[in-house]
Amino acid sequence: MILFFTGTGNSLAVARKIADATGDRTMPLAEAADQNLDTEKVVGLVYPCYDFNTPPAVRELVTRLRISPEAYVFIIITCGAQTGNSIWTVRRLLKRKGVRVAYCHKIRVPDNSATIFGRNPNDQLWKLKKYAPRLERIIDDVKARRRGSHYGAPGLVGGLLGLPSVERKVLSGFKPSVDPDRCVGCGLCAQVCPVGNIVVDGKAAIGDRCTVCIGCLHVCPQQAITTGKQFPKERQYRHPDIQILDLKHNKI
Ligand SMILES: Cc1cc2nc3c(=O)[nH]c(=O)nc-3n(C[C@H](O)[C@H](O)[C@H](O)COP(=O)(O)O)c2cc1C
Repeated sequence: MILFFTGTGNSLAVARKIADATGDRTMPLAEAADQNLDTEKVVGLVYPCYDFNTPPAVRELVTRLRISPEAYVFIIITCGAQTGNSIWTVRRLLKRKGVRVAYCHKIRVPDNSATIFGRNPNDQLWKLKKYAPRLERIIDDVKARRRGSHYGAPGLVGGLLGLPSVERKVLSGFKPSVDPDRCVGCGLCAQVCPVGNIVVDGKAAIGDRCTVCIGCLHVCPQQAITTGKQFPKERQYRHPDIQILDLKHNKI
């Protein structure tokens, strides 16, 4: 079973690639958190790195997971460049449940947050080609049930930026909001929100459980989701193998 958490499809695309090769199933982490996965012999977790750490929603969901200490557990993190604490946080959470992570790795992909910094994630599609061989090696390792931590220490910058107080500050600066003048209430944002935190009543409204995946910002056809400033359509990103339909978790 390969569990994924995704805002713009990078982690879902990686999860699917692994599942296709291993014959496993994929499942959203939010769905898996409510099930008993005790009988699964292989459990993979694929999620993105946010601010040198694990997305807050992933941490919360991982604490609810029920998996066997006997399972072969692996973690793959998708990131723009640097992953800081993002592996150690989840390893610790799982260890508290008596579950040891057998294998972990990270893979670079387009940075979906680049758009917030005035850059275009679509200019980073080259990473998908460049790091494809790494993904093949990861798949080989997982198929052979190899063990190993392909992670260094978070480093000073990664460690400091991943501190909870710093993290809260950084992520709150990325929090999206809805521009009511542009929103037409189509509800696409609410359908893709991986934590079901958007309601639509004429216009979309973002609740207080936002984990800052910015999936909503990237799918909005009106560019009505902003972080104070508005983003042009050409800087909206979705992994090229992933359709909007694949990201729809919620019915509205
Ligand atoms: C709020 C936020 C913070 C991010 N912080 C980092 C980071 O610290 N390091 C990094 O390499 N990538 C960072 N990224 C980029 C994502 O990790 C990367 O694009 C990831 O693959 C997105 O996965 P998804 O498409 O499955 O949502 C950040 C993205 C977001 C939305």
